[in-house]
Amino acid sequence: MTFEELPLAHERVPLPTRRATIRLARELAALLAVGDLVIFSGPLGAGKTVLVRALCRALGVPHELPIQSPTFALVHEHDARVPILHCDLYRLTGDSEAEQLGLRERRHEAVLLVEWGRGLEPQLGGGALHVELVDEPAGKVATISADTGARRELVLARARRRGGREPTP
Ligand SMILES: Nc1ncnc2c1ncn2[C@@H]1O[C@H](COP(=O)(O)OP(=O)(O)OP(=O)(O)O)[C@@H](O)[C@H]1O
Ligand SMILES: [Mg+2]
Repeated sequence: MTFEELPLAHERVPLPTRRATIRLARELAALLAVGDLVIFSGPLGAGKTVLVRALCRALGVPHELPIQSPTFALVHEHDARVPILHCDLYRLTGDSEAEQLGLRERRHEAVLLVEWGRGLEPQLGGGALHVELVDEPAGKVATISADTGARRELVLARARRRGGREPTP
């Protein structure tokens, strides 16, 4: 995979098919390491859970294990190439509830994949990669961004290492 092909190089990634979602998931999975936080946002039905599931599979969660959105449990744990904490914070009613889940304290243990975590980045320890999904007439679209330059640089640096290319100015 070359650096130019990575989603982070262009940020807006059309996902017209589930196949495209799986491709994006594989590209993201290759960049993620323990301690990383990815926040998935977007309206109901935008494709968050399908993308997180594909990401979990790409990180090595076996196909025989179901991956459901933790709507009621709030957090599901998976063991894969890296430990995964898959969270769905839709039902949380305030910042303090997010604090009480103790996810920030668990950042160093796992890759943290959080649906409906927008606005809770500080409670989750900051430095998130954001994946916003929308359902457009032509299909779903993911937009990838990071609030902090440092975080983006880190991910891009990993991408470059994988792609074996020098950074483009
Ligand atoms: N890339 C895609 N191409 C086509 N269909 C998709 C794609 N991604 C998801 N879907 C379909 O869109 C529907 C909603 O997807 P999903 O459950 O992932 O949304 P969600 O954002 O998690 O919604 P909610 O917020 O309600 O949990 C599902 O029927 C799913 O099969
Ligand atoms: Mg969902």
